[in-house]
Amino acid sequence: MRPRSLRVFDLHPTGSDFEAEVVEGLAKPQKTLPCKYFYDADGAQLFEAICATQEYYLTRTERRIFKEHLPDIAKRVGPRAMVIEPGSGSGVKTRMLLEALESPAAYVPVDLSRTQLLVTSAEIAGALPDLEVLPVCADYSQPFPLPGPMSGSGRRLVFYPGSTIGNFDRPEATQFLKRMAEEAGPGGGLLIGFDLKKDPTVLHAAYNDSHGLTARFNKNLLVRIAKHCDTDLELDNFAHYAFYNPAHGRVEMHLVAVRDHTVRIKEHKFVFNAGESIWTESSYKYTRAEVRGLATRAGLEVAAEYVDDKNWFLVALFNVKAAPAG
Ligand code: AVJ
Repeated sequence: MRPRSLRVFDLHPTGSDFEAEVVEGLAKPQKTLPCKYFYDADGAQLFEAICATQEYYLTRTERRIFKEHLPDIAKRVGPRAMVIEPGSGSGVKTRMLLEALESPAAYVPVDLSRTQLLVTSAEIAGALPDLEVLPVCADYSQPFPLPGPMSGSGRRLVFYPGSTIGNFDRPEATQFLKRMAEEAGPGGGLLIGFDLKKDPTVLHAAYNDSHGLTARFNKNLLVRIAKHCDTDLELDNFAHYAFYNPAHGRVEMHLVAVRDHTVRIKEHKFVFNAGESIWTESSYKYTRAEVRGLATRAGLEVAAEYVDDKNWFLVALFNVKAAPAG
């Protein structure tokens, strides 16, 4: 079946300079690498595999919440919504949402990766022929203009599932929600997935799965460096290390040097002492009270909160306050 409408808006995001960002991160006293670089084709595939593990409860718990509460969410969102999704993932949850909504008008995925964007868009357009699919190729960490659907639309809904918001530190998360509230506009909505604070043993296991997939996912950053940079980096000099930091309420992933050695990238030399780490990711965990606090700071109203029976994951529906009359 030919989709009725698929228009691509390419904002030609300036290709981020991988090598320069790697050098910048490794030059810091606490060495870091940006977690956005996990997701090349191999990384995206590893992430999908992690989502299917017994230990990584996040994906299946969130899906269960959607399954149970999508009718209520759909009722609150109303007909002919325009769904905006920063970062297009595997598309499973997106389809669940779009299929539950009452005649959604448009779907606007926003992603840096042109390939990922086109694959997701084509799949959605094929499955929902009455929907306008309007992918935007852009870096969603920067403001981006929204395409208008050809047909009139109802509310705008920003969809950000998976607890991806956990990758932001707390002030950044507030800034992000404020910006998404602007994208949704007065009267719009935000549907956001948060991973909740829980027994640290459960959190620890989720980031240390027994198949070693999370370790491979983490080390994939080094694989990318070895592949794409002018370097003598040796993968076997590093080990995956992930733990829950209760004081900061976050899971931290690191790559720890297993011996004293030096890594060269271009003309730069980085000294590693055994036990020293590269910090690759934070995944912040929330309490329900912290989610409400975040909403307040971002100027949002909590319209509804949906949780699973263990209180492990929270899907929040926020409303952007309507503009004052006059
Ligand atoms: C996709 C960012 C939500 O932080 O839990 C999975 C990525 N890292 N295992 C997360 C991830 C390690 C994931 N997010």
